Amino acid sequence: MTLSKEMLEYVATLVEKSLGIQYSKENHYQLEKRMNEVAAAFGMRDAEELFHTLRERTNQKAINALLDASTNNETSFFRDHAVFDAFANDLLNNPDFNGNKQNYIRIWSAASSTGQEAYSLAILLRQWQLQKPNRNYEIVVTDFSDRVLQQAKEGKYSDLEVQRGLTPEFLNKHFEKTTADPKYWMVRPELKRQMSFRKVNLLEDWSDIGSFDVVFCRNVLIYQNMENKKKIISRLVNTILPEGYLVLGAAETLIGLSEKFEIRRLGKAVYYQKLPKG
Ligand SMILES: C[S@@+](CC[C@H](N)C(=O)[O-])C[C@H]1O[C@@H](n2cnc3c(N)ncnc32)[C@H](O)[C@@H]1O
Repeated sequence: MTLSKEMLEYVATLVEKSLGIQYSKENHYQLEKRMNEVAAAFGMRDAEELFHTLRERTNQKAINALLDASTNNETSFFRDHAVFDAFANDLLNNPDFNGNKQNYIRIWSAASSTGQEAYSLAILLRQWQLQKPNRNYEIVVTDFSDRVLQQAKEGKYSDLEVQRGLTPEFLNKHFEKTTADPKYWMVRPELKRQMSFRKVNLLEDWSDIGSFDVVFCRNVLIYQNMENKKKIISRLVNTILPEGYLVLGAAETLIGLSEKFEIRRLGKAVYYQKLPKG
């Protein structure tokens, strides 16, 4: 290690204050590894030089790059399949779901990482749309990290990435091989048409984002402390339409965080439905 304990403590606090992501002492070595990578990318001598830049706040780009590198971006298509089965069977196929009454569905994939969650939803929404004329939808895709958001926006995935969760049928229908690099697949333009991409830090202001029938905020609260979890949920509540839904990751729960939702078990998935007057 080139950085002292105090230096790593300082950087861990900076990351937690900015993004809410907690690095415990046992994981400080990971932070140092990420600092070394960012330092190299910025042509700096080592992590210590980056540390001084961070402390003096002289290079905002380097700070952003470190925050970006501190995120865990693990994701895949149709991750936790039960969530997508429930979305297709219990919401899209349910005439009482608000989106069916309105023929319009607005979805937010918050903390979307590289976009696989949002494109999985788009595949299901496209099927729903094709079943009846006049149906429409919009998916807002956000993440804090510019790096992952850029890939989501491009809709470009390696052979390995498409193998994680996509059936051959969906792959052939909604993706095409890139001509420039045959190891990569691009999302077909029609799938992207009703999607917009935007950088959002869930701990900062995003009150202009509008209202949604369903908000997917999966596998991000798990990295946050209790205070931040409550802060994020209390603001997410205001973006969900009455009787709309919030979906969290498999290891996350709303218990102790909000009383504005009712638990709904849809197939094997848990959805949180906002109370009519929530
Ligand atoms: C593990 S991924 C989850 C991706 C997807 N939701 C899923 O479940 O497969 C977590 C994502 O949360 C993002 N993230 C972490 N802290 C954030 C914050 N404060 N605001 C917005 N995004 C954040 C990271 O950049 C990362 O891409």
